[in-house]
Amino acid sequence: EGPTDLTLRINGAARTLRAEPRVTLLDALREYLDLTGSKKGCDHGQCGACTVLVDGRRVNSCLTLAVMNQGKEITTIEGIAKGDELHPMQEAFLKHDGFQCGYCTPGQIMSGVACVKEGHATSDDQCREWMSGNLCRCGAYPNIVAAVREVAG
Ligand code: FES
Repeated sequence: EGPTDLTLRINGAARTLRAEPRVTLLDALREYLDLTGSKKGCDHGQCGACTVLVDGRRVNSCLTLAVMNQGKEITTIEGIAKGDELHPMQEAFLKHDGFQCGYCTPGQIMSGVACVKEGHATSDDQCREWMSGNLCRCGAYPNIVAAVREVAG
């Protein structure tokens, strides 16, 4: 099978690309659409650096094919701020130093957004459990949990 035309709805806008059906959503974002905020840590579902929201639920974008996500609402780290105004989760990561090298941060933030929205941040332990698929090699976990818990209120 050769390349096909795909239309993806990303951060509220329709984006088109021409790609082989085997292209992952992560590669579609990064390599075809220049949305490089979502990171590739492992490319097989173990690190969470590629986390995006699909129809509001968090997804490892390296584990799903772009073609399967047509017709769905995809939100990436580039889409959560409102103009110059950062998303509250972004503000909280800044305030609590929820990152060091920053590589895992986009995925952590997207996971944190889903964590709060789905009500999984009612305690530090619950938050840690929910966020356990997002690895941070710098070990910023306590600050990440503090940031997510603050947004949860
Ligand atoms: Fe997708 Fe690691 S790059 S989980």
